[in-house]
Amino acid sequence: EKGTYPHYMLKEIEEQPFVIRKIIQQYQDEDGNVTIDPSIVSEFNQADRLYIVAAGTSYHAGLVGKQYFEKLAQIPTEVHLASEFVYNIPLLSKKPLFIFISQSGETADSRAALVEVKKLGYKSVTITNVPDSTLSREADYTLLLHAGPEIAVASTKAYTAQIAVLAIVADVLRKSKGIEKDIDLAHELAIVANAMEEICDSKDEFETIASDYLSFARNAFFIGRTLDYAVCLEGALKLKEISYIQAEGFAGGELKHGPIALIEDGTPVIALATQENVNLNIRGNVKEVVARDAYSCIISMEGLEMSGDRFILPAVHELLTPLISVVPLQYISYYAALHRGCDVDKPRNLAKSVTVE
Ligand code: F6R
Repeated sequence: EKGTYPHYMLKEIEEQPFVIRKIIQQYQDEDGNVTIDPSIVSEFNQADRLYIVAAGTSYHAGLVGKQYFEKLAQIPTEVHLASEFVYNIPLLSKKPLFIFISQSGETADSRAALVEVKKLGYKSVTITNVPDSTLSREADYTLLLHAGPEIAVASTKAYTAQIAVLAIVADVLRKSKGIEKDIDLAHELAIVANAMEEICDSKDEFETIASDYLSFARNAFFIGRTLDYAVCLEGALKLKEISYIQAEGFAGGELKHGPIALIEDGTPVIALATQENVNLNIRGNVKEVVARDAYSCIISMEGLEMSGDRFILPAVHELLTPLISVVPLQYISYYAALHRGCDVDKPRNLAKSVTVE
């Protein structure tokens, strides 16, 4: 039930701090450390390469997951769109392990890929919100999201839950391999939950950004680099699916290779700046679009902020920024859709669970 909330999407955005706390609880041992089923750990430890397969928002969570597996656990990882993978299976490593990410556990494209993987005799893990879903039953192992039912067609809390679970898995693998890193993930995720709450308290600011930038926009760009780029793809998907504004996410450095030709007087460009090593680069990219009269705004993070930034996110661990930087983008899409009179929870032409290939 959506209770006092006008829309499921708004309710689900605001449930995210609780979902992260629930995930910490579900994946914690008696000592407060993150943990997963040892048989899953041993399956991962036998793999020489991970293949993440998913669709839509779950694919975007996979792009972030790749960074976690490579940076925390040092396991090479590829991310594939399920609908492409089925018809174009990549050259696989000697010992691949497949990770299917699916909120519903029912996506036909992902299931078709799982069927192919099983035919080839490889092992698989499904990360899903729905126990007993098709993908959960048919994979060898399941990791649950514990996000509670997601009703709005636009996925919000499942995306952050997927990223949190991927971070936990990667960190457990890191420890199992004896890779030293100064990170206490349960603690860092608790900081994320608090930061999410603070961001939700600022939703009026995101409503203002939506009405300033998007009320009459024909198109909109989201730009970022590294992890911020992955979040920009998700921000653009969210905006296009519920507000019908043509929206694209670009890697900041790619603008000059083509997309900058689209910038006109007043084109909205929302930039994320949460990554220290590319902070100056993304700000340079913003200058490039402003020089072409784009209407830009920067969402940065404490410690990296500069004067003129439109919103400053509370500081979290630099690998976990997607969990918080996506929240303003979810709100901005929500309010943009609302202001334009769109059916936020049930956008045209879309279904919550896509059971056709
Ligand atoms: C976007 C959205 C879709 C789904 C995609 C995969 O907001 O909800 O892009 O993410 O259809 O669905 P699942 O995760 O259920 O496999």
